[in-house]
This record gives sequence, structure tokens and C-alpha cells, in this order.
Amino acid sequence: MAKIVTAFGTPHTPFLPEQVSKAPGQLKPEAMMNEVRQRLEKAKPDVIIVFTSDHFVNFFYDHFPAFCIGVIDEAETTPETGCNMPHYSLRGHKKMAAALHRAALKSNFDLATAQEVKLEHTIMVPLHFITPDMNIPIIPIYNGGLAPPAPSARRCYSLGRMVRRFVEDWDGDERVALMASGSVSLEVGGPRDTSWFDEPWVETVKGLIRKGDYQGVARRATEQKMLAAGNVAHELLNWTTVFGALDGALPDYLDSQRGSVFAAWDLEDGR
Ligand SMILES: [Fe+2]
Repeated sequence: MAKIVTAFGTPHTPFLPEQVSKAPGQLKPEAMMNEVRQRLEKAKPDVIIVFTSDHFVNFFYDHFPAFCIGVIDEAETTPETGCNMPHYSLRGHKKMAAALHRAALKSNFDLATAQEVKLEHTIMVPLHFITPDMNIPIIPIYNGGLAPPAPSARRCYSLGRMVRRFVEDWDGDERVALMASGSVSLEVGGPRDTSWFDEPWVETVKGLIRKGDYQGVARRATEQKMLAAGNVAHELLNWTTVFGALDGALPDYLDSQRGSVFAAWDLEDGR
């Protein structure tokens, strides 16, 4: 039986790899990424199920699914303005992804599917720091939060619960990691300045994570609340999806810088 052994969440700031390469060991986000990386290395996962929001790299308004799973053999990074990092290719876990897609449909989660994806900064910036060898296959699951209306946080939470059930029922021995990508409060491109963030909201979310009240986050993260926290603050949906799979486990690591939260959960004992 497969098992979820760890979960983690980080932002995906596109210029962070270049900033860190110019000032190694000097930036707090690098230190926080390292905290997460050390925990992931200890957990030794065989596959990472990545929850992310597509940033108009794989989808556009002509066809933007609410949810989509990448059923892929492999994929490569795609060049993005402002994101200078090495070109990577990464394997997918196609067999498990196809089974997860099937299980989702049976559970009334009508995921779209993509058999080819381009790997964007939302996936590759966290992995650049956390799995620099790029040797762990991924299963990407996208939500359409950047092209509102977004799926609800409660629906994302339920999706996470379904993913946990799938992993526990999966006839394999994979050690599974879950990754949430994105910020809790952030505005990109204005009208508010990118340095602005909704500090009370970030503290509320952090406080709920600290005590394991994940349904509390999902309840409070209404569309209105997330829009008020910034025009990309819907990325919290990736976190609420992971929350649904945690079965109430408390975080092993939790920190933040401005609107970005970094967290990791040790789920080795089955919690
Ligand atoms: Fe983003």
C-alpha cells in the first residue's frame, strides 16, 4: 500500500533562483527552502503530487479547466521572463497519475487531463531548491484560480481528501509527497504594490495551520477573501487541497516572510 509520508508548501517567487545565485546563503527564503528540503530528503519520497495554479503557460482563456491532472511520461521547463534558472526535465509517474485520474472521476471529481505539459516556475522554482537533483517523478494537478471563477477552497479541500484515499488504496508501495505551491497574500502587476500584503490574513492562516484547523482555512478562504488578499492570493487553494490530505496532522515546520508561507509536515507515522 502506498503512503503519504510528507507534505510541504512554499511560494514560487520566479526571481528567487537568480537572487539566491547572486547572494548564496544570505536570503531568508533560501534558508526556509532549505528547511523544507531537509525534511523532504529525510522522507525519501518516490513521487511528488504537485498542486499548483497554471499561470497561463499550459492553459489560456480559450480553454482553462477548473482542475487538470498531468498524465505525463516526462516534461521540460519552459523559458519564462524574469525566471532565470537551469533548464530541467523531469519524469512524471504516468501509471499512478492515470489511476488517480480514474479514481477522481469515480469520486465525482471531473478532472481534465493533459498528456503533455510545460513545467513552469510554479512547479520548478520550489523544486529547484527542494529537489535540486530533479530525480523524483511528479504528478502535477492544476487548478484554474488564475482565470476566475476559481474552484472553492472547500472543493479543493475535498479533492485533497480524495487524493489521500486514492494513495491509501493504490496497489503500490510508493512513498508519496504532496506539494502546495503559492503565496497566501500577493499582488502582481497592481494596482497595489507588490510589497503590499494582507498581514492579518497571513497571520490568521498561519495560526490555523499551527493548530491544525485546516477546515477553518477552507471555510474562511472565500473567493471574496482571497481576492481581497491580492490578485494571485487564490494560490492558497493549492494549500487547502493539501490540507484535505493531512488528516489533521500538525506541521513539523512553519514560517513566513511577508505574504509567503513555508511549511512541512512529517506524515511518516500515518498521520
Ligand atoms: Fe504565482
